[in-house]
Amino acid sequence: MIELRGIGKSFGGRTLFRGLDLELVPGTTTVILGRSGSGKSTLLRIVNQLERHDEGTVRGAGVEIPAGLPHRQWLRAATALRRRTGMVFQGFQLFPHLTVLDNVTLAPRVVHRLPREPAEARARELLELVGMGLAANRYPARLSGGEAQRVAIARALATEPEVLLLDEPTSALDPASTFDVVRVIADLEKRGFTLVIVTHDPDLGRDLADRVVELGGPAGAGAALQPA
Ligand SMILES: Nc1ncnc2c1ncn2[C@@H]1O[C@H](COP(=O)(O)OP(=O)(O)OP(=O)(O)O)[C@@H](O)[C@H]1O
Ligand SMILES: [Mg+2]
Repeated sequence: MIELRGIGKSFGGRTLFRGLDLELVPGTTTVILGRSGSGKSTLLRIVNQLERHDEGTVRGAGVEIPAGLPHRQWLRAATALRRRTGMVFQGFQLFPHLTVLDNVTLAPRVVHRLPREPAEARARELLELVGMGLAANRYPARLSGGEAQRVAIARALATEPEVLLLDEPTSALDPASTFDVVRVIADLEKRGFTLVIVTHDPDLGRDLADRVVELGGPAGAGAALQPA
């Protein structure tokens, strides 16, 4: 699936992690823990190559991306990898001028050139899956945080990714909304999706994780730990 070997990343002379190994096994959930600024979002963005790594190799989607690959080669490989992953960004980032349904169908229609009808049929199924089936025609401004997050999950799944990456899916939410979102994520896990979840909520981590990666923790940067 997707495999990271010996990954290192620094910003302006500050090393976030080095020698980090991570294999995303199909059907498993990997949780990335760590305090603010430890590099959790950066690691997630390296998994789908929205961010380039300084050391090591990322493999997946039939491509191999060593650090320092020339830009054109990197871009081609990164695009292939990105097409196999779905991303739920920190803070939802729904398109405010589009309805819920159009938010979910946009990537399949524009990037994958799916016609409107099958794109909408699939979007409605995904909205049902996340408990937002009745909200298809609403605009993001009319959604609560938990509802917006569940739409963001449906949108990330619309391109049928092999791996779903979630950046702090509950950090902006009240307890009731957190409960709804955690239930959706647990349901995806049960259905065999491959998930990578960034959180600084250790409870969320423990409940859902097959594997925990702790950044900047007491065990040292990038230590991969098995859950207790
Ligand atoms: N594009 C960038 N250029 C320079 N520095 C960056 C860049 N992206 C991230 N950083 C720095 O790298 C560090 C890690 O950032 P990152 O966003 O990965 O942390 P995080 O663990 O996700 O934090 P949080 O829990 O607050 O979301 C921070 O110090 C941040 O300022
Ligand atoms: Mg972050």
